[in-house]
Amino acid sequence: MSSHNQFILLLSSLLIISCLASSSTPVIGILSQPLRTHVTASENDINSTDSNYIAASYVKWVELSGARSIPIPYDADDELIHEIFSQINGLLLPGGAATLPSSLRTLWKLAMNVNQQPNQNFPIWGTCLGFEFMLELAAEEHVLQTGFNSNNVTWPLIFPTDQEQSTQEYYSTQSKLYPTPELKHMLSLKNITFNFHQNGIEPETFAKHEKLQKFFKITSYNYDLNGRPFVSSIESIQYPIYGVQYHPEKNAFEYGLQPGTSRPYEVISHTREALFLSFHLASFFGELMRNSTVGEYTLVDRHPMVIQYPLKIALNFEEMYVIPSAKYWKKEKEFGKNLRGSQESMLS
Ligand SMILES: *[C@@H]1O[C@H](CO)[C@@H](O)[C@H](O)[C@H]1NC(C)=O
Ligand SMILES: *[C@@H]1O[C@H](CO)[C@@H](O)[C@H](O)[C@H]1NC(C)=O
Ligand SMILES: *[C@@H]1O[C@H](CO)[C@@H](O)[C@H](O)[C@H]1NC(C)=O
Ligand SMILES: *[C@@H]1O[C@H](CO)[C@@H](O)[C@H](O)[C@H]1NC(C)=O
Repeated sequence: MSSHNQFILLLSSLLIISCLASSSTPVIGILSQPLRTHVTASENDINSTDSNYIAASYVKWVELSGARSIPIPYDADDELIHEIFSQINGLLLPGGAATLPSSLRTLWKLAMNVNQQPNQNFPIWGTCLGFEFMLELAAEEHVLQTGFNSNNVTWPLIFPTDQEQSTQEYYSTQSKLYPTPELKHMLSLKNITFNFHQNGIEPETFAKHEKLQKFFKITSYNYDLNGRPFVSSIESIQYPIYGVQYHPEKNAFEYGLQPGTSRPYEVISHTREALFLSFHLASFFGELMRNSTVGEYTLVDRHPMVIQYPLKIALNFEEMYVIPSAKYWKKEKEFGKNLRGSQESMLS
């Protein structure tokens, strides 16, 4: 074959690859949480008293991963959860404050049904509260501990050593989240990972729960302000399921200020290294979603993207999307067209 023909062949295969890639942009479901006192929403016909929210930083972090997102109402029933599950290539469980909803228990079961089949994948990422939810779900019992002193602090990560791994099997040095010695070195030196939690789990408590140990390995830990250890990263042994107690989305997307001042609301690092971590983890998750074997986003009017919902300015989260209660999905077959930036107006 002439080099010219080879070039054409290469070019056309690249075009095919790029077309495939663009038509398979993953769609992820983000679990919302009750809005409660966060903001007083009175947006359009969305009832503020039982609305949910999704912090915009998570939506942007998903975009950084190369995916789009649709909301999962916190109060969704099994029927709605099954419907949403059929539309998504992965699940993101954000931080915040809420109790574990039955909607998530159903999602977890559906995800595990997929992941337990050979060569089938449905990825899940949990951040902070989402990480804590995953511990409870994998342990199948109450395992969380309270009283950690780790609010509004930015710390390096502590990685298990070979020595620790050889004596405590719940630690792993074979991390997929932190695959290179350079990355580990940087994260173990720099104050990058932002923590804001009172709940968590000590490595020794983790070790006491057999189901947890069979499910996850600990790939980083920290000490709180009182010197009490807590697990800061977990990676599923068999499944594409990962969680971090800290907030990688905040480094890139939260810059809130104290009201009326130029002082930061939280001590979030926005250094080049911190932004790199945020992007590194997002793109890692993006790769898992592109590898998902289930989910096809077809009900675009019934399940509009998160960015189409009303946006509020807030404090602890710079911006939040207001997501209606699950009741809304019962009432309306398709309501994408009523929302800010409907599919139609986006095309025009
Ligand atoms: C909003 O929700 C509350 C509680 O479910 C209900 O009592 C109220 O009637 C609703 N308001 C509107 C305008 O739908
Ligand atoms: C993609 O899925 C296949 C089949 O389940 C698995 O072997 C592979 O490790 C996955 N790749 C990534 C990047 O997750
Ligand atoms: C990280 O923060 C701690 C205080 O929490 C401080 O003592 C330490 O010097 C910081 N390290 C770096 C590299 O900035
Ligand atoms: C976080 O810590 C910074 C620096 O100490 C402080 O100015 C800020 O008020 C704290 N924010 C919260 C929400 O605790």
